[in-house]
Amino acid sequence: MPASKSASKPLRYRPETRLVHAGQIRSELGETSETLFLTQGFVYDTAEECAARFKGEEPGFVYARFSNPTVAMFEQRMAAFEGAEAARATASGMAAVTAAMMGQLRAGDHVVAAKALFGSCRWVIEELLPRFGVASTLVDGLDLDQWRQAVRANTKSFFLESPTNPTLEIIDIAAVAEIAHEAGATLVVDNVFATPLWQSPLALGADCVVYSATKHIDGQGRCLGGVILASEAFIQQHIHMFLRQTGPSLSPFNAWVLLKGLETLHLRVRRQTDTAAAVSVALVEHPKVTRLIYPGRPDHPQAAVAAKQMRGGSTLVAFEVKGDQAATFRFLNALRLVAITNNLGDAKSLITHPATTTHQRLKPQERAELGINDSLVRFSAGLEHPDDVVEDLLGALDAV
Ligand SMILES: Cc1ncc(COP(=O)(O)O)c(C=O)c1O
Repeated sequence: MPASKSASKPLRYRPETRLVHAGQIRSELGETSETLFLTQGFVYDTAEECAARFKGEEPGFVYARFSNPTVAMFEQRMAAFEGAEAARATASGMAAVTAAMMGQLRAGDHVVAAKALFGSCRWVIEELLPRFGVASTLVDGLDLDQWRQAVRANTKSFFLESPTNPTLEIIDIAAVAEIAHEAGATLVVDNVFATPLWQSPLALGADCVVYSATKHIDGQGRCLGGVILASEAFIQQHIHMFLRQTGPSLSPFNAWVLLKGLETLHLRVRRQTDTAAAVSVALVEHPKVTRLIYPGRPDHPQAAVAAKQMRGGSTLVAFEVKGDQAATFRFLNALRLVAITNNLGDAKSLITHPATTTHQRLKPQERAELGINDSLVRFSAGLEHPDDVVEDLLGALDAV
């Protein structure tokens, strides 16, 4: 089946163009849109061809747990946008995180991670890896000395997310990558909060990038997905076999939805970033808001690092509502447009109370160390008119 003309040299084009064209496999029917190949398997003209395909002597698809044309289109489009040599799609963001770590590690290895992680990522590092004999140390990701001091002779990998969830701290990716490499370790970055539009961890020195495609890549709250991006060597050495044999494969249908999501990613994320910036301006000096964190603002504690490594602000704003949890819940319950949920990166504006949802598993002391108190909320900008969103938030603050 011939590749489309536009897919043949995707890297020639600017990022927005790659989001629309890269990776498309156009069939002999000449369809405009990407095809949904809803098939588990593939047939062969001869037994010899089948044997050659299985031996890897002939290119082509074999079985959808290994790969599928629609999934391959999504992987190639992601790789072209991210500037990565290779990509592998997974069924969810957590499948991507788990494979990126477990694929590299053996019993006896050690991992260092920033403690400000999405709750499930922290569970993988803190609880799951040690069950298989992989020790882990959590550090304050902002403190480079803590990364250095955590290194042991058997340290194999570093893991972080930036901006962090939910307090939107910015970790210096290039500096942490340097420490990891000096220690002979790899750096894996969860780039969900930054989005591929605003931050490119591989260019900053990371060895592997993971996404929950469930968030901005789908961007319309429809399906789960994940993706792992790295050099061809990293994927071959650590990821390829792990995924093929353990099977956290992305469904072709979800890959198709995500492909169509990628086409509009840059428009959506730009608009969401503008709305988040407008929300930060409207709320920062509000008498009912005691603290506001937005990576695009000059008063962000790591504004200099953000300017160095990010091309844009964020689609998220974190802020604390004056008063206790009851006051914060009154604010949340008074919202009419912005929906209460634990998700983010949707066309609809969403708001989360991390202490009772995404980070409820942590002990109060652990939440306090991360700056998560009962008054903190995380706002994710949608695609509504920014004025409607701001008015809804201001109206609800009146109810506090
Ligand atoms: C930063 C971060 N990483 C990973 C994930 C996991 O993604 P998924 O829900 O697609 O498994 C999430 C989801 O909330 C997230 O916010």
